[in-house]
Amino acid sequence: MAERSPGVATVNEENARPIVQSSLCQDVERVLISAEEIQDRILDLGRQIDERYTGKDLLLIAVLKGSVVFVADLMRAISIPHELDFLATSSYGASSVSTGVVRILKDLNEPIEGRHALLVEDIIDSGHTLAYLTRLFRARNPASLEVVTLLDKPTRREVDIELFWTGFSVPNEFVIGYGLDFNQKYRNLPYIGVLKPEVYEPGSE
Ligand code: IMP
Ligand code: MG
Repeated sequence: MAERSPGVATVNEENARPIVQSSLCQDVERVLISAEEIQDRILDLGRQIDERYTGKDLLLIAVLKGSVVFVADLMRAISIPHELDFLATSSYGASSVSTGVVRILKDLNEPIEGRHALLVEDIIDSGHTLAYLTRLFRARNPASLEVVTLLDKPTRREVDIELFWTGFSVPNEFVIGYGLDFNQKYRNLPYIGVLKPEVYEPGSE
């Protein structure tokens, strides 16, 4: 009989459940969108993407780092064959204000000419980042270029973004979790939440 090695999980159907962890939760003021709501919406988006791109050469382009968790679930909700590529960007200037000047830290591995490119974003806020990226990619002559974003903050929009699917519209509050960060933390939360004000402004308690 095989010995169980420490640190290796055994598969047990009864124990199968979504990964939910509780550390860091004390910083969260409230949950805006639960893990279950996110998964349900992603299944809808996956079905719509299946319909839209059946028979087409689909390439998902995930914008690092915020959309990593979203794309990991979204691609498994898409049943048609597709490929995945990553792009890393960083905004110039003050971190809290998006200027629209975006620096490419990691470009795509493959050309997108003639392919159906679908940009996967975590959140559209002012719209500057996405406006820059869509201009950049359009110049590479894809067969089509569209956007799917998990979250949208429409009240904050400064530039128009076309052709996009949205998971959820959120109010004008800073949100974290499910890939989205505050100072690089909280990406691992399984839900979308709002932080307690004292986390932003230490000492204001
Ligand atoms: P935009 O250029 O203003 O649309 O900024 C979009 C980027 O800002 C997103 O891809 C996020 O990385 C970041 N961002 C905007 N709002 C939030 C938020 O509420 N929480 C976490 N990150 C955000
Ligand atoms: Mg982002």
